[in-house]
Amino acid sequence: MHSSFASRLVAWQRRHGRHDLPWQVTDPYRVWLSEIMLQQTQVKSVLDYYPRFLARFPDVAALAAAPADDVLAQWSGLGYYSRARNLHKAARMVMDEFGGAFPAEREQLERLPGVGRSTAAAISAFAFGRRETILDGNVKRVLARCFGIDGFPGDKAIEKRMWALAEQILPPDAADIGPYVQGLMDLGATVCSRGKPACTVCPMVDGCVAAREGRAGELPTPRPK
Ligand code: ADE
Repeated sequence: MHSSFASRLVAWQRRHGRHDLPWQVTDPYRVWLSEIMLQQTQVKSVLDYYPRFLARFPDVAALAAAPADDVLAQWSGLGYYSRARNLHKAARMVMDEFGGAFPAEREQLERLPGVGRSTAAAISAFAFGRRETILDGNVKRVLARCFGIDGFPGDKAIEKRMWALAEQILPPDAADIGPYVQGLMDLGATVCSRGKPACTVCPMVDGCVAAREGRAGELPTPRPK
């Protein structure tokens, strides 16, 4: 499964994945903004807010120059307002410390307020084509099932194992990284869902440990009581 995971996922994403999301672009500002919005908000709501926010703040310079109150007002309705405050701080940091251009490296992106490892990896992969991978709740579920990883994924030791695995199964060719990362998101959001995994249409079913052992319903392991 290790060696074929990426190629199967990429082929599936190109054919069956989502291709019409407005943040599927290579402008790092647009990718960053979408990833911050998508951290705690559903795709459906972000589709509503994202274009309005961009119309008001078309680039990182406009966002950095705006008064904080304007940024918060445009964020109003999305919730988790620390994201908006961090967004504004990060925009000013891009202007002041990175000369107005987002850095390509994940480690540099992680210096921006509100940008953790997964968000930095998504920006680095989508906007700059770097071989980086994400590990959010959806991806943890896909990995736990496909590779039969027991243990609560919120547990530090399990999470560390999952990051190591996620790094091992990256596609070898950087040209595939966009569809690959999007494929992880798409598979977790649709086919390999939490409630009713659609194993009969899953591109991974042949190598999937959970499908083989009939354990899709019990993986990932829930939080211990
Ligand atoms: N959730 C987080 N990032 C996403 C993206 N780029 N597309 C769809 N859902 C996401």
